[in-house]
Amino acid sequence: MVVTFGGGKNMIKLFNISASYQDFSVLDNVSLEISAQRFYGIIGPNGAGKTTLLKIMTRVKRPESGEVRLLDKDIRGLTNKTIAKIMAVVPQSSFIPPLFTVEEVVAMGRYPFQNFGFSDTKEDKTFVEAAIEKTGIHAFRSRMISELSGGQRQEVIIARALAQTPQILMLDEPTANLDIKHQMKILGLTASLVKKDGLAGVMVIHDLNLAARFCDQLILLHDKKILANGSPETVLTPAHLKIAYGVDTAVMENPLTRSLEVTVLDSEAA
Ligand SMILES: Nc1ncnc2c1ncn2[C@@H]1O[C@H](COP(=O)(O)OP(=O)(O)O)[C@@H](O)[C@H]1O
Ligand SMILES: [Mg+2]
Repeated sequence: MVVTFGGGKNMIKLFNISASYQDFSVLDNVSLEISAQRFYGIIGPNGAGKTTLLKIMTRVKRPESGEVRLLDKDIRGLTNKTIAKIMAVVPQSSFIPPLFTVEEVVAMGRYPFQNFGFSDTKEDKTFVEAAIEKTGIHAFRSRMISELSGGQRQEVIIARALAQTPQILMLDEPTANLDIKHQMKILGLTASLVKKDGLAGVMVIHDLNLAARFCDQLILLHDKKILANGSPETVLTPAHLKIAYGVDTAVMENPLTRSLEVTVLDSEAA
């Protein structure tokens, strides 16, 4: 089978990235390309460096060596506002000041476009409304953040990211605290932003079945390197999963969704 690394124009390029915390090496010589119109899933065991990889792509963390290029420019030369106009991040856990309303938090996504504090233009308001619309959070738009459930708060953070009108949307375990209905809603929404609006979607996710169902391309991290990078079919093999997670699996196509499903086998019984 031919693996196409298609998608739209190139958005991010990582060249030979190595990263560490103090003396502890986390990524070793990793190279990667992220293109528009493509939904990427970054997978791998706990501590594999998935969050670190996102932080390097967003310049939150600086690599020891290698280069990150955003829209073909060295990311080190860009201002924070320039980066924020191009990409929005939904972090693994984020602090939101509790005394703001939902609407106010979503409007914070317009910050990179404003020059003097919060003076919303008509355009800003339009993008805030569109973000509230797309994420379907009208029902609690006037409530205080402190009054929301974890899942609702997550939807607000995603709305804030969309209000930023990014070309790249990065999500770090966005479905971790969501029920199955809201998991589908968030992943379906991201997939449609990728398909219809041409964004590049980059998501860290533990659920391999959801990753296979929604992502065009999976990047499996293991032992500081990319163990496999390609379509769900090429990445989610029992051999790769054995190396990365140390478990035996069966991988089959689900007849209803037509996407791959991973079942972990009981190693005692096998
Ligand atoms: N700020 C930090 N200081 C020291 N070590 C860190 C820090 N952040 C992450 N690490 C370590 O780096 C490794 C990779 O972390 P991370 O990128 O968060 O992994 P993942 O997201 O795949 O679970 C882990 O061993 C983690 O303990
Ligand atoms: Mg992480």
